[in-house]
Amino acid sequence: MKSTKFDNAIKSVFIKIWNLKIHPQGNFKVFWEAFVLLLTLIMTIIAPLMVVFEIPSKGPFLVFDLILTTFFTIDIYVNFHTSLLVKRKEIHDRKKIAKEYLKGWFWIDLFATVPLHLIFGISSFVMLNRILRFTRLFRLVKLFSSSSTKTLKRIRELPFINPSIMRLLLMVFLLLIAGHLIACGWMFISGNPDNLDSNSRYIEAYYWTLTTLTTIGYGDISPKTNTLRIYVMFIQLIGAGMYGFIIGNIANLISNIDVAKTQYKEKVDRINTFLKYKNIPLAMQKRINDYYEYLWDNRRGYDESSVLSDLPKSLKTTVSLFLNREIIEKVPLFKGASDEFLTELILTLEPVIYTPGDYVMKKGEMGFDMFFISKGSVDVVSEDEKIVYATLTDGAFFGEIALLLSTPRTATIKAKDYCDLYSLHKDTFQKILQRYPDFAQSIEEEAIRRKDELDKQG
Ligand code: CMP
Repeated sequence: MKSTKFDNAIKSVFIKIWNLKIHPQGNFKVFWEAFVLLLTLIMTIIAPLMVVFEIPSKGPFLVFDLILTTFFTIDIYVNFHTSLLVKRKEIHDRKKIAKEYLKGWFWIDLFATVPLHLIFGISSFVMLNRILRFTRLFRLVKLFSSSSTKTLKRIRELPFINPSIMRLLLMVFLLLIAGHLIACGWMFISGNPDNLDSNSRYIEAYYWTLTTLTTIGYGDISPKTNTLRIYVMFIQLIGAGMYGFIIGNIANLISNIDVAKTQYKEKVDRINTFLKYKNIPLAMQKRINDYYEYLWDNRRGYDESSVLSDLPKSLKTTVSLFLNREIIEKVPLFKGASDEFLTELILTLEPVIYTPGDYVMKKGEMGFDMFFISKGSVDVVSEDEKIVYATLTDGAFFGEIALLLSTPRTATIKAKDYCDLYSLHKDTFQKILQRYPDFAQSIEEEAIRRKDELDKQG
């Protein structure tokens, strides 16, 4: 009885593994690809060293070989079970997946997975055994496959590191690995004529590789045989191209490390040139520069409405709700309001910035907007600015009296520091009042209270 239960459990595990469906861009696949990539890179470092220094597959090296074979075999299985993506549509058809895989990377994977050197290693052909080990390196070609490129892209886009810096690091790393392979090639062909120990041999070979690749070429280590000379010519040819390519890319990457900041600086530079050309007073220039600095520090130079305007409506609503959640949470007036109301309100709010000392409104003007303070503080003052009626900060609102009572502004509002405000236009305000009576009532109560206070003081 017990054994049948156990059998069934094993059966179901097997069925699950057999029916495995892997999403080509899912987290598992990316993680797996990254893991196999790491194994491939470790193998790329170790396998050529084993060939050059004639290290036999024994002890830890044999274990590593077997681990590689196991994981590369699992990888082939994973590839047979990874759905295809055709025009963003997932295809699970097992036959189609197999057909595509057999047409492409399968043979490279197979060639690199089967441990030919272990199978044929028993033979007395030492050279054959050494060369067969290189078949593992065929997997490196897969670095250029679309799935590896996508995985590398995902790694580059990890949120905690700047993508350009990550690209730079990956590139340097790949360059070092390429150098390692070239150095191993040099040692393989040249042998060990000077009877150096392994460390000195490797350092000398790597030193030669870097002086050649960087086109410095001191010439202190030079090829002595024809085979080596042919190898050197080959490396010189690809080396010059590779070096140019990498240096060009690095220069490009460095200038792109912070594209947004560079572009923003250029924009501010252009504005400053204009300000100087127009002889704008220095104090005013400073204010303008301070404003742009504030804009960069707080919004990375972007006005959110210009970013949102390009998005489709549904996405715009979601992003807007996310961005404005903070302000909505700060305003006591909106506590407990329905989602429907908040969504409608958020989509109509317009972000505006005021710099210290700016007048948001002056007493006696006609008013067409009311404001919510997201960040910063304003003073509510009399016309001559001698009386400060109130200081309003994050989450407060003002400018509602003129809208509700259709009167001129009852006070002057002056920004105390940098203020991130959201304005609500009169028309939208009226529409919202009609549809949401609770909101209308709270605003009216506050407006009446403030008006009374002003009347008492004035
Ligand atoms: P409004 O008259 O449109 O423009 C000036 C604004 O100042 C006014 O609306 C109110 O929102 C605000 N206000 C006036 N008096 C006070 C006060 N005593 N406390 C806070 N805010 C006020």
